[in-house]
Amino acid sequence: MTSTILVTGGAGYIGSHTCVELLNAGYDVVVIDNLSNSSPEALKRVEAITNKNVSFIEGDVRNRKLLKKVFAEHSIAAAIHFAGLKAVGESCQMPLAYYDNNLNSTLALCQEMEAAGVKNLVFSSSATVYGDPETLPLTEDLPLSATNPYGRSKLIIEEMLRDLPEADTLNKAEKPWAVILLRYFNPVGAHESGTIGEDPKDTPNNLMPYITQVAVGRREKLSVFGSDYDTVDGTGVRDYIHVVDLAKGHVCAVNNLLGNLSGKSPITGVEAINLGTGNGISVLELVNAFSTINDVPVPHELVARRPGDVAACYANADKASELLDWSTELDVDAMVKDSWHWQKTNPKGYGQ
Ligand code: NAD
Ligand code: UD1
Repeated sequence: MTSTILVTGGAGYIGSHTCVELLNAGYDVVVIDNLSNSSPEALKRVEAITNKNVSFIEGDVRNRKLLKKVFAEHSIAAAIHFAGLKAVGESCQMPLAYYDNNLNSTLALCQEMEAAGVKNLVFSSSATVYGDPETLPLTEDLPLSATNPYGRSKLIIEEMLRDLPEADTLNKAEKPWAVILLRYFNPVGAHESGTIGEDPKDTPNNLMPYITQVAVGRREKLSVFGSDYDTVDGTGVRDYIHVVDLAKGHVCAVNNLLGNLSGKSPITGVEAINLGTGNGISVLELVNAFSTINDVPVPHELVARRPGDVAACYANADKASELLDWSTELDVDAMVKDSWHWQKTNPKGYGQ
């Protein structure tokens, strides 16, 4: 029998790519999204890529009545919770909106999941929970900290979710919670079809969408934040991961929770797992790879460091391989090629 996965925030950047991979893997998908940072067009394109239907409910995950209805009408086997606000700078300006959205959506979802007896959850966490790392590569057992309200919201949610299996033990729950906290590194790239991709509503904060908007002529030049870090060329080093690899990591997580991962026992309780490639590359290395592979110039200038940035951040991805049988398949060339394919074919994102 086909299992149905509830995907909150499924119209967004990572959510839409994950819907494609879930449908390709044979799962049915129900999406709840309030479209606050996405377009319904993304889900139409998911359907076109996969030739399968997505059940889409436009609404807010904080709406418990709506969630109750969704769990009553669909036989949900597991949920992936992407819905949330994600801009670091904005979170410093409007922390209450971030705590409201990110915490209350998770609370509402977990309350209605528990009420419906659905206790398999995959949560979108972030490498930001490692704060300013002292050792690299980052393993899941390192100390956690937050440097801004966005990061703190992820940290609080991770902590909150850790209490659920404890309660199961006390309550001798028949069906215990199984929760996978996926800590993403830096997602980039787009589906190879070029029909879905990242479509920031305002000026991009993240590097890759800024590069593609410069390359397509929407912005004059890229500012490279900091050239005096203790790194290979002085610019910041990150672990960029192709969004399709990231999406497949979610399918592996769901497979694990539902006992569909041969040779691996399903995770019990709460496990944090990094999703990264394990390789760090610098801003200039990424910019040069983009220009060379795509044969397109990316005018840029070196400017001061961006406050709050760390010099380097990359994953140890061994745990994902051990527990989820997952590792990345797509290299930097594919990342820059697919990012450019999406941007070039959709110069205004979904808004054209
Ligand atoms: P995104 O903004 O493209 O997707 C989030 C989706 O959730 C959007 O479609 C938005 O409309 C929806 N949404 C927001 N609040 C909602 C609510 N209350 N109810 C219903 N829908 C709501 O972001 P993304 O890049 O796809 O990120 C997905 C998740 O992954 C987020 O939780 C984000 O914090 C996390 N994450 C992202 C990155 C990244 O670099 N993109 C890195 C680490 C973690
Ligand atoms: C940012 C967030 C982090 C979040 C992650 C993924 C901050 C401080 N951190 O991380 O919480 O989990 O995105 O969404 O915002 N860069 C430039 N020019 C630009 C943009 C970026 O040089 O116009 C550089 C940055 O200095 C950094 C690298 O590119 O060295 C990557 O930046 P970005 O894409 O914003 O991701 P992070 O800073 O890693």
